[in-house]
Amino acid sequence: MISTGFFISFEGVEGCGKSTQIRILRDRLKSENMPVRLTREPGDGEMGGRIRELLLSVSSALDPLTELFLLAADRTRHVTEIVRPGLAAGDVVLSDRYADSSVAYQGYGRELPLDFVHLINSRATGGLVPDLTFLMDIDPEISLRRSRIRLHQQNMFEAEGRFETECLAFHRRVREGYLRIARDEPGRYAVLDGTLPVENLSETIAAIAIGALAQRKEMETV
Ligand code: TYD
Repeated sequence: MISTGFFISFEGVEGCGKSTQIRILRDRLKSENMPVRLTREPGDGEMGGRIRELLLSVSSALDPLTELFLLAADRTRHVTEIVRPGLAAGDVVLSDRYADSSVAYQGYGRELPLDFVHLINSRATGGLVPDLTFLMDIDPEISLRRSRIRLHQQNMFEAEGRFETECLAFHRRVREGYLRIARDEPGRYAVLDGTLPVENLSETIAAIAIGALAQRKEMETV
């Protein structure tokens, strides 16, 4: 266990496979007896669920600024009620999306000014930045097709939300945004090829995460 906890986020465009990978990593860390807490944005907890509904429902017409503020409200609550308490308890907190999603989607995707998105993020998070972030990088043309096929196979056409129905150009801007964020913070980011088979990716992710955790533990004992 690490006394300050360890914070890992997963990022990427729709259908990039991060939700599968985050669950595999959770199970792997648990099997090594590590205390793990899995969470997500938007919408963990009751209030988060309501914000999530507003954000994702195709029927809610939201302008980009309202969207950013709803996400920031959810993030503020998520950080104070879930992430910080988890870290204080010494857990490895795994978050399916976090503040970089707003930079990529609302900043690069919706084209809100980046410095404004950063400012809102820093207030919402109180400056809490993940120790490690995995970016599942994939061409959105491939990943959107993948997630649509999955929804159609499950007869869940209506499950397509406001973001899935955005045009390809939007998702391309989001992908490029993520790659820029990762380039700016190479120490925090691990960029992975999202087209690789699930097992290859999960092995790489586990190796990087376990390596980073061991390094942190070593630093704590020095
Ligand atoms: P979700 O169904 O959780 O999709 P995914 O599995 O791709 O994470 O929906 C979350 C959506 O919210 C997703 O399309 C990205 C979007 N989003 C933002 O636009 N900005 C944000 O800050 C966050 C956290 C999510």
